[in-house]
Amino acid sequence: MKNKKWWQKAVFYQIYPRSFADSSNNGIGDLQGIIKQLDYLQELGIDAIWLSPIFPSPQEDYGYDVSDYGTINSEYGTMADFDELLEKTHSLGIKIILDMVLNHTSDQHPWFLEARTDRDNPKREWYIWKNGRNKRKKPPNNWKSIIGGSAWEWDKKTQQFYLHQFLPCQPDLNWRNNEVQETMFNYLRFWLDKGIDGFRLDIIHTLFEDSGFRDNPRSWRLLPSANSTAYLFQKPKYTSFLGETINMCTRIRKLIDSYTPERMLVGEATGGPRIFHSLYGKDNDGLNLVFNYKFRDQPFSAKKFKETIQETENILSEPLWPCYFFSNHDKARMISRYRNDEKKSKLLLFLLLTLRGTPFIYYGEELGMHQVKIPKQSLRDPIANLQVMRIPIGKFFGRDGCRTPMQWTSSTRNAGFSSDPNTDPWLPVAKNSPIINVEKQKNDGKSMLTFFKRLIQFRKTKRALTQGSLKFFPVSNRNCLIFERRVETERILVLLNFNKKGIQISNPYPSATKVFSTLNLDISLKTDRLVSLHPFEGLLLSYKGKNNIYAQ
Ligand code: NOJ
Repeated sequence: MKNKKWWQKAVFYQIYPRSFADSSNNGIGDLQGIIKQLDYLQELGIDAIWLSPIFPSPQEDYGYDVSDYGTINSEYGTMADFDELLEKTHSLGIKIILDMVLNHTSDQHPWFLEARTDRDNPKREWYIWKNGRNKRKKPPNNWKSIIGGSAWEWDKKTQQFYLHQFLPCQPDLNWRNNEVQETMFNYLRFWLDKGIDGFRLDIIHTLFEDSGFRDNPRSWRLLPSANSTAYLFQKPKYTSFLGETINMCTRIRKLIDSYTPERMLVGEATGGPRIFHSLYGKDNDGLNLVFNYKFRDQPFSAKKFKETIQETENILSEPLWPCYFFSNHDKARMISRYRNDEKKSKLLLFLLLTLRGTPFIYYGEELGMHQVKIPKQSLRDPIANLQVMRIPIGKFFGRDGCRTPMQWTSSTRNAGFSSDPNTDPWLPVAKNSPIINVEKQKNDGKSMLTFFKRLIQFRKTKRALTQGSLKFFPVSNRNCLIFERRVETERILVLLNFNKKGIQISNPYPSATKVFSTLNLDISLKTDRLVSLHPFEGLLLSYKGKNNIYAQ
C-alpha cells in the first residue's frame, strides 16, 4: 500500500488565536503567545495547527469579517511574528494552515467601502447588488442568510440591496467577477509562497449563487446541522453547492497542487457526506477534506455513530478521505453537549482518533474544557445578540462559551492565559479552571490530557490506525461498536462500549493482544474468547494476520 499523504495521517489542532495565549498582557491572545506554547503542542503530539483568522478585521465576527487579506491583525502581532511562528512551528515538524474567508469580506474592507459610494464605482461589481422587488425596499428574492433573516441588506445611499449569506456586516464577494478571482488567488499565492501548509476554507459551499436569482424552494424540515433558524423553512438550492462553486474548488486545488512540499485544503460546508461530497470534486480533484458536520451532531448513541460513519465510508470511499471533528469555535464544547461526562468525552475522542479519516481537535478539548455560561450582558458574539438566535443552542447562547481562554494554570482570574495573573481576559475564564487546566493535568496519569497524549502517541505507532481501511463487525449489543482498521497484515480491532454497564462480547481474534484502553493506558494483555468492556470503555486489540475470519 502506498503511504498516505501527510494531511491524511495528521492530527490537526484548531487554535482560536484570540483565546489561546496572551503574551502582551492586554487580555487578547496573540501570535507570540502561541510561539511560547509550541513546546506544549509538540508534547501533545499533534501534527498540524489550524489558525482561525489572523487578518485585520473590525472583529464584528471575530476575524471572519476580513478587512485586509494580506497582513496580520495588529492585535495579534506583526508579519515578523507570523514568520517566526511559521519557522518555529516547522522546525518542530508541525504544519500550519490558515483560515481563508473567500465568500465574503468585512463591510469595512476598503473594497466594500468603495463599492457602496455609488453605483458606478468600479468596485461595485465586486459584490452582489440588486434592486428591490416592485421598486420597493422589498428584498429581491426569498434567500435567507445562514444565521436567519433575509440574505439581503438595504443600502440607503445607493438604493439597492447587497447580498450577505452570513451577517449583514459580511457582504458576499461576487465570484463571477474576474478581478475578484484574480485578487483572491493572488492572496492565496501570497500565503502559500510564505510556506504555509494549506487553508481551511470558510463556508466554501456558498461561494456562488444562482445567476438568475431564483427563489429557494420551501422546506418544512430543519436541515441537518443548520445550527440556526436560517434554513428552517427553505432549502438553500440556489445559494449553496452550485456547480461553479465546485469548479472553483477544483481551481484552488490545482493552485495548491502546484506547490511543493504538498499543501492541503479543508472546507467548511454544512450537513453530511451526501450533501458535501461534491466539494471533493468529480475526480477527487476538489478539496482534500471537508468537515463532517453530521458526525459532529450525533447523540451519544453507538447506533447513530455507526450509521453516520458507515454512510461516510460508503460515500467517501478510497481514494477520498473523511474528516471528523466534535468541537470548534461555533458550537458548544463537546464534553458539555454530553453532560460534562469525562468518560463519555474520552470515549468519543477515542472514536475520533481511531476512525479512517483526519481528526481535528479544538483547543482545550484535550483537557475536557467545559462550555462556559457567559452572562448575557457579557456576550461578545454577534450571533448571540441577534434576536433570531435568542433561541439558545441547547442550553447555551451564542458561541462565546466555547471561545473562552485556554486554561493553562490554576490562577483564578485568567487561568494563566495572560502573562500577568491580574489581567482580565476578553472573555471570562471558566469557573472550574482551577481544576481543569494543563498544570493540574500534565502529571496526572488519569487525566484527560494524559489520556489524549498517550492515544496520539499510540496512534502514531500503528499504520493501521493512521492509514488503514475501516470495516464494521456485527455485534449483538446495540450499545457497542466494533470495527477493524487494517493495513496489509496489521490489524487493529477498535471496541467501544457506549453503555453505562460493563459488557462481555465474543472476541473475533481470540489470540489478539489488548494494547490500549481508555481506562488503563498501558496494557499488553493476551485476550481470550470473550472480551470484557467496562462502562464507557474504549479498547484496542492488536492482531496480525491475512485472513478475514470475521468479515461481514
Ligand atoms: C463559519 C465560521 O466558522 C464562523 O465562525 C463564521 O461566523 C462564519 N463562517 C462566517 O464567516
